[in-house]
Amino acid sequence: MLIDGQTAPCVSEESLEIRNPSSGVVIGQLAAGGEEDIDRAVRAARAAFEGPWSSWTPYERQALLYRVHELMDRNFDELAEIESVDMGAPISKTRATKASVLKMILFFASQSSNIAGETLQNGLPGEVVTMSLKAPVGVVGGIIPWNGPLGSQWWLLGTVLATGCTTVLKPAEDASLSVLRVAELLHEAGLPPGVVNVVTGRGDVAGAALARHSGVDRIAFTGSTETGRKIIDASKVNIKKLQLELGGKSPDIIFADADLDKAVQGAAMGVFANSGQICFAGTRVFVQREIVKEFCERAAFFARSIKVGHSLDPEAQLGPLISNDQLEKVMSYVQIGANEGAQLVCGGERLQGSLADGYFVSPTVFADVHNDMRIAQEEIFGPVMSVIPFDTVEDAITKGNATEFGLGGAVWTRDISKALRVVKGIHTGVMWVNCYGLIDPLVGFGGTKMSGYGAKGGRAHLDTYLYSKCVYINT
Ligand code: NAI
Ligand code: MG
Repeated sequence: MLIDGQTAPCVSEESLEIRNPSSGVVIGQLAAGGEEDIDRAVRAARAAFEGPWSSWTPYERQALLYRVHELMDRNFDELAEIESVDMGAPISKTRATKASVLKMILFFASQSSNIAGETLQNGLPGEVVTMSLKAPVGVVGGIIPWNGPLGSQWWLLGTVLATGCTTVLKPAEDASLSVLRVAELLHEAGLPPGVVNVVTGRGDVAGAALARHSGVDRIAFTGSTETGRKIIDASKVNIKKLQLELGGKSPDIIFADADLDKAVQGAAMGVFANSGQICFAGTRVFVQREIVKEFCERAAFFARSIKVGHSLDPEAQLGPLISNDQLEKVMSYVQIGANEGAQLVCGGERLQGSLADGYFVSPTVFADVHNDMRIAQEEIFGPVMSVIPFDTVEDAITKGNATEFGLGGAVWTRDISKALRVVKGIHTGVMWVNCYGLIDPLVGFGGTKMSGYGAKGGRAHLDTYLYSKCVYINT
């Protein structure tokens, strides 16, 4: 672990096995941090927050982020390899995240010198000047999942460095290595000790201790809705501010007038990318009835053409699932879908041969799915597409909204007014038109309904790491 700028063992001396999901082989041991380790890290983060870090100017924090940018740029090949071996995403994909990670760091660098309050008018008698100041909230607990920490950790780290907060980051037990390496690079770039601390360990132990620690002012959490509820419960101890990005079951709506060459690939990769382990994966694919048959045939043809392979195979387009648990979960949903009467068009098999020891599932397409089936309502987090027919724009909107989640969604059509009707009608935090999954930190994304709250990206994101202080000056 990394606490107060130093590599640290955990107090209990217990460890967790790190497995390569492509082979099932144990590749290392991770310190299983607990309550005492969290406490030590939170104290370090508090001391740093109140120490010299608090007097760093916006320009100094910005310059630090530029040095971080340079180090990330120089070390990205190593980081991509660590991430691929640790969590299974193909090396071509982890290498390709370089551009988006570097863009995020530039975004946060630009924001650090852009934090501003307001001067405000008032109706008070006499000469009273009023304004609002922005101040960093303090110690932020970060709890992140395993589906792409090389990129996702920057939503936390970038904001902490831009705003002058400090953090204790608890990465997921199944993918902590890129986070630990990045923490080293931050210190190499000149980050003062205690600003960023990383405590590895189990969610229900280290994560839970962080969520309830009264020295933590805010939690930024990404993960399952079930764990999100536990974070809400734990936050009541000291009324922590929360940002929650939770599960999804995002609708991807394809009209008969869409450019099907683009829509088939776009919708398929909207589900299958990262082996389906993406919060806003477009897993409910609503297809206008007259093109359902053609769509399913083409989606299956595309799914079969995807090269699934070992994460270090340079040709692999999809890797394994993160763990044996996740493999079992996904395979159980394939069975549930079949039992519910959905038609398995392709995939749904654990891969054999040279990939038999890894956690590989072939990209799966189900047709004849009804919106009330479990495979259309529950987050599977695997490469499983459910195709659901619809008739009209209204029908697509009604069916698209028939879920407890509200994270992402997309619409494919050549008719821009139809597209905008769907964009307005669907209740989600992000909508794509004739594309899927594009993210820019200047714009961001977010969730509504049971997908959580608190923006990721844009100015609104920075604001949630700051609080406003109203000031009245009697002159
Ligand atoms: P999870 O939500 O339990 O884990 C996410 C993070 O929370 C990890 O760092 C974990 O260590 C931590 N955590 C777990 N229990 C905690 C607790 N009681 N207090 C504080 N932190 C805790 O998700 P998990 O178990 O890894 O995956 C289960 C399912 O959750 C997946 O199959 C998927 O459906 C969903 N999921 C959704 C994600 C998303 O981005 N929407 C990301 C990861 C999982
Ligand atoms: Mg869990």
